[in-house]
Order: sequence, then structure tokens, then C-alpha cells
Amino acid sequence: MMPADPTRNILIVDDNPNNLGVLSDFLWDMGFEVLVARDGESALQKTQYAVPDLILLDVMMPGIDGFETCRRLKAQPATRDIPVIFMTALSESAHKVKGLSLGAVDYITKPFQQDEVLARVKLHLKLHTLNQTLAEQNLRLQREVETRKAAEAALQSLNQELESRVAARTQELSQALEDLKQAQVQMVQGEKMAALGQLVAGIAHEINNPINFIHGNVNHADTYVQDLLELLTLYQAEFPQATPTIQTKAQELDAGFLQEDLPKVLTSMKIGANRIRGIVQSLRNFSRISGPESKPVNIHEGIDSTLMILNSRLKTQPNQVAIEVIKDYGDLPLVDCYPGQLNQVFMNLLVNAIDALEDHLSQDPSPPTSPIIRISTAVMNEHQITICIANNGPSIPEPIRKQLFNPFFTTKPVGKGTGLGLSISRQIIAEIHQGSLQCHSSPAQGTEFVIQIPNSQGKQ
Ligand SMILES: Nc1ncnc2c1ncn2[C@@H]1O[C@H](COP(=O)(O)OP(=O)(O)OP(=O)(O)O)[C@@H](O)[C@H]1O
Ligand SMILES: [Mg+2]
Repeated sequence: MMPADPTRNILIVDDNPNNLGVLSDFLWDMGFEVLVARDGESALQKTQYAVPDLILLDVMMPGIDGFETCRRLKAQPATRDIPVIFMTALSESAHKVKGLSLGAVDYITKPFQQDEVLARVKLHLKLHTLNQTLAEQNLRLQREVETRKAAEAALQSLNQELESRVAARTQELSQALEDLKQAQVQMVQGEKMAALGQLVAGIAHEINNPINFIHGNVNHADTYVQDLLELLTLYQAEFPQATPTIQTKAQELDAGFLQEDLPKVLTSMKIGANRIRGIVQSLRNFSRISGPESKPVNIHEGIDSTLMILNSRLKTQPNQVAIEVIKDYGDLPLVDCYPGQLNQVFMNLLVNAIDALEDHLSQDPSPPTSPIIRISTAVMNEHQITICIANNGPSIPEPIRKQLFNPFFTTKPVGKGTGLGLSISRQIIAEIHQGSLQCHSSPAQGTEFVIQIPNSQGKQ
């Protein structure tokens, strides 16, 4: 006898003790663990305690018949999957069909052919085992799929997180790059202005001494000349009959004209010397190095000294009419600001205006209206002042106007413009002075830049 296989438990249900005996003995001999039941009810009860691997079920039984027993087995989750083989008489083919439709896997016919019983039992046990293995594998696979799906989702969200971190970092980096560019730009401009300031200060200093010298002495010279002329007149009156040598010399020198013109020459020299003193004063104003502190400043002085520096570009030039500067200054208080930086803004705006007008003039050398730069200042309210630098040159088309304040934006040829003037100017006005710099432009009015700044830093 073969040892019982725990997965080969067979329940035989038959009301005929003879059949039961023969079948159980045979299967027992074949090495199966055999349980028996005489009717459907007790078969169902037995399945409660030990679930068999296969059931051989008679159809015709007292009490509940085989069909009903099968139906109840199939209704219970614990017993639903047990393969059921019906045992029917040869003649009862209708039973076979019904049994199969109720969920039976097979049938065997009475009287039993032992080989056939064994073959079918073995086949269905094997199928059942295979089915179970398959179901388990399926479950395992399903779990694996779920695990993989979860891993994939985690990976995807990690990926997304990574992507958004990369994007954020990129944004940070490009911001840093932008800041660096700005800082560089400011440094370059700052250095440029400092160098210009130094140069101007040096020139002003060098001119200052000799001009003071001239200015101081021209008055004395004037007095002395007056005295000498007076003396000459007196001589002429006292000695109308001069010697022939003197008369010849007087004629030679055109003494009459000399007496008349010399005071005029001296007056011109005085005016010239005063002009030069004015220029030197402007140069000194312009180059005044501003410290880290803001200080109260006369804005008009800053504008005037900048205009003075640019004077040569405003005058009539070989192929170009002069640019007229109209000043419309309001009654400004002293403004608490950083004068060096503000002069830099005036310089940028005025140079831009001159460039625009020159460019316009180069296309139309005799325009219907002569080129004008209008500079107006006004008190806006008790806290703010406004400075407007306008020119009647070309208007700036909308797409260009949007980019004016971007660093490196220029419409000028390479080597002429760096495209930094306005971006620096806006930074100086907005960030250093807490003000605003705006551009308005229209074909009818030309272009104007409007600065608004608080008249004292720290208060608005
Ligand atoms: N008054 C103006 N009229 C017409 N266009 C102007 C005027 N001011 C500025 N622009 C335009 O704005 C552009 C940018 O000006 P911005 O001062 O920033 O640079 P730039 O003058 O080209 O070069 P940079 O000032 O660095 O030498 C100019 O190239 C010009 O096209
Ligand atoms: Mg410029």
C-alpha cells in the first residue's frame, strides 16, 4: 500500500454500501485517503471539517440527491473549487448533462471500470492541482504587477520631483546669472562714470588755477588800461602839437581805433574768463564724487553740468544744425539723492536723445521742425519731484519700447551702443532712489523719459 498523500483526499458519497465498499477499498489500495458518506447531508457536514481534494458523488440518494448536494457545495466558497465527479448509471445520460451543468467536472458510469475510475480521478486531481498552482501563480503575478506599478508610480513621481527641482534650480541659476550680469553692467558703468569723473575733475583742477589767475588780473589790467588811456587823452589835450615821430607812430598804430577798441577787448576777455570759470564750476559739479550717503542737491546744477559736458554735441556741426535745449525748470527744493548716480542718468538720457535726433537728422538734414531737447522739472507733490527729458525726434515703436530697459538691448550699430544706458538708469532710479523711470513716445510728440523720485530718501 502506498502512503497517503495529503493532497489526495477523496470523499465518496453513495447510499449503496456495496458500491461504497468496493470503491473505497479500491481507491484506498491505490494510495488515496478515503472518506465516505452515505447521503448528501452527511457529505456536506464532512466537508466542513476536512476539505477533500475530490468528491465522487452518487446522483440518486435518499434525502437530498447528488444534484442538490453539488449545488450546495458550489454555493460555499470553502467547497466551491473541489472537483466533483458524478457517479451515474449507464442509461441516465440526462443526469450526466445536468451534473456537468451544475459544475461537476466529470462523471463515471456504474458499474465501475476500475481503470477508468482511477484514470479520471487522477486526471482531475492533477487538473485541480494545476488549477490551484495556476491561480497561485496568477495571484503572485498580480501582486508583482501591483508592486511594479507602485514602483513605477513612485519612480514617476520621483522623476517629476526631480524635474521640478531641476527646473527650480535652473530658474535660480538663470536668476543668479541675470543678477551677475546686472552687477557687471553696473560695475562697468560705474567705472566708466568714475573714470569720466576723475578726468573731468583733473581738467577742472588744471584749468581752475590759471583761469582764476587770468580772471583776477584782467580786472587790474582793465583798470591800468583805463588809467593809461586817461593819461594818453590828457597828453593829447595838453600837447596837441606832438613831435613828428609821435605823430607818425600814432598814425601807424591807428591810435584812435586802439583807444576805442582796447576797452572792448578787455571786456570780451572778462566775459570769456567768466565763461571759463562757469565751465570749470560745472565740471567740478559734475565730477563731485558721491559718497555712500545721499545728500541734498540742486538737481538743476546736475542737469546743467551734464549739458555743459555734452555741449559740443549740441552745437552746430559741419553737416548738422544745432540741437536747441529748452529748459523749463520748476521751483525745486534741494533733493536728497545720490548726485553722482543721478548725473549718470541725466547723461544716459541726454546722450540717447542727442543720438536719436542726430540719427533723425542724418536721414533728413533739414526737417520741418528744428531738433529740440526739452528738459522740464516740477514738484509733483510734497514728497516727490519729476524730471522730464524729451526730444522731438522719432517715436519708438511699441515692440521696441517694451525692450528698452532690458540690459544689452540696443538698436545702435556695434561699437556705438552697449544697450546698458537705460537698464542702468532704471536701476539707479528704481532701486537706489525708490523712484520710477518711464518712457512715453508718440509720432506727434517724439519721445520723453520721465523720472520721478522722492525728494528725500527713506520718506515717500
Ligand atoms: N530718446 C530716444 N529716442 C529714440 N530711441 C531711444 C531713445 N532712448 C533710447 N532709445 C532706444 O533705446 C535703446 C536702448 O537705449 P540704451 O541707452 O539702453 O542703450 P544704447 O543707447 O543703445 O547704448 P548705451 O547707452 O549703452 O551706449 C537705444 O538703442 C534706442 O533704440
Ligand atoms: Mg544709451
